[in-house]
Amino acid sequence: MVTLLENPLRIGLQQDRIPEPQILVIYGASGDLTQRKLVPALYQMRLERKLPAELTIVGVARRDWTHDYFREQMRIGVEEFGGGLQSEELWNDFAKGLFYCSGNMDQQESYQKLKAFLSELDELRGTRGNRVFYLSVAPAFFGEAIQQLGAAGMLVDPKKHRLVIEKPFGRDLSTAQVLNRVVRQVCAEEQVYRIDHYLGKETVQNLMVFRFANAIFEPLWNRQFVDHVQITVAETVGLEGRAGYYETSGALRDMVQNHLMQVFSLTAMEAPNSLDADSIRNEKVKVLQATHLADINNLDHSAIRGQYTPGWMKGKPVPGYRDEEGADPNSTTPTYVALKLHIDNWRWKGVPFYLRTGKRMPKKVSEIAIQFKEVPYLMFQSAAKQANPNVLALRIQPNEGISMRFEVKTPGNSLRTRSVDMDFRYDTAFGKPNTDAYARLLIDCMLGDQTLFTRDDEVEASWKIITPLLEAWDAPAAPDAIPFYEAGTWEPVEAELLLNRNGHRWRRL
Ligand code: BG6
Repeated sequence: MVTLLENPLRIGLQQDRIPEPQILVIYGASGDLTQRKLVPALYQMRLERKLPAELTIVGVARRDWTHDYFREQMRIGVEEFGGGLQSEELWNDFAKGLFYCSGNMDQQESYQKLKAFLSELDELRGTRGNRVFYLSVAPAFFGEAIQQLGAAGMLVDPKKHRLVIEKPFGRDLSTAQVLNRVVRQVCAEEQVYRIDHYLGKETVQNLMVFRFANAIFEPLWNRQFVDHVQITVAETVGLEGRAGYYETSGALRDMVQNHLMQVFSLTAMEAPNSLDADSIRNEKVKVLQATHLADINNLDHSAIRGQYTPGWMKGKPVPGYRDEEGADPNSTTPTYVALKLHIDNWRWKGVPFYLRTGKRMPKKVSEIAIQFKEVPYLMFQSAAKQANPNVLALRIQPNEGISMRFEVKTPGNSLRTRSVDMDFRYDTAFGKPNTDAYARLLIDCMLGDQTLFTRDDEVEASWKIITPLLEAWDAPAAPDAIPFYEAGTWEPVEAELLLNRNGHRWRRL
């Protein structure tokens, strides 16, 4: 651990507000997300004293589990996927606040049973009627669960009752609109927390600070100086046993509509006039509404999809997408998507924004790269024949940080130039591990802060941008209609062409 004397940047890092005592009800508690992410994140936050001692977690699912069995499962989660128990005593104290209540999403009695149980827990644990309902169930159940929670009177108090909805929020624009209507019938928008865990990542939030707390970048952040922007979210993992979900989703729904669009809108939006949730979300919506695929009449010039074939990852053979358990052997589900977007506004008109995401890429890396225009005339010799353009790269993960690429003179008698990087890294600067994205978002929700959650109109605006692609790619297609890339390699060649047309190239990361 770095001391304050060694690293003064750590001074004042512990200023967190602690939420009020409350009950977090997790629907879909027997699923992976609860065991691998949510409960380990909450336990860690409890250890760091960022959560009240009264915090109570109630898992709800169909299976007939006991409280003790649920506690055991969560303990495994903390040991295997979290930071470990630290001590038996600390775990026992936390586990006293874990409960399980079996129930069917479509049966009214289950909700009544839960309601009665929550009142008992209020007495036992001092949680004062404060509740967060977290829907981590298959998206097909969202509507039903929201209606039933509403009918059971569990979402009546805007100050005490909150609703967290996992992604994907709808399958397309019209299903998202229907779901938003259901939500509106039952509760107020101020109670709704549509979660996108990318917004909980430190560097994604830092984007706003970087842009709006520094005077030197914003004047360059526009069509006069920026040549183009590349946003990459590359993953090394494959399907991970999620064929049931992924076959109906694919990279466009799984990653682009939510995570990439969030990163995109924070990069491109105008400065909000305050930090309150709606000021920021208004700006995000505004820029999303001005955004469209580069060429609506020629989708191949706007977007490319791809699917991985068998290949090698870290020296080991891995199956192709169609050979993964549960995947259709003729599937045309995209595991890779690249988009070219245009924004019709004064700041960005004519500047292409390229977005790409893929599974089974050679590296796990997410970043935003702002590539600036070239100098108008170069009188020096450059090692790369011409000076490389300046690039500002904001790394979201791993090695969170910011780097700026610029030209310097190479040592020696001649005036030659070469590119170098000036680097800032979060871990070396602050010597403090980043808070887990889920932990951050859960705490914000318990505090009633909606800034890092997606508003109804925002989710609809991002579906709208990709609607032409959904329509084209959802249509039945021949098995060879999709471009392929070998697992462990970067994008299909078609995705290179998407950029080459404008004289651009994907960054090699
Ligand atoms: C999830 C997607 O939302 O994000 C997964 O459903 C994906 O398919 C994951 O692997 C990526 O998250 P992260 O935090 O590992 O970049």
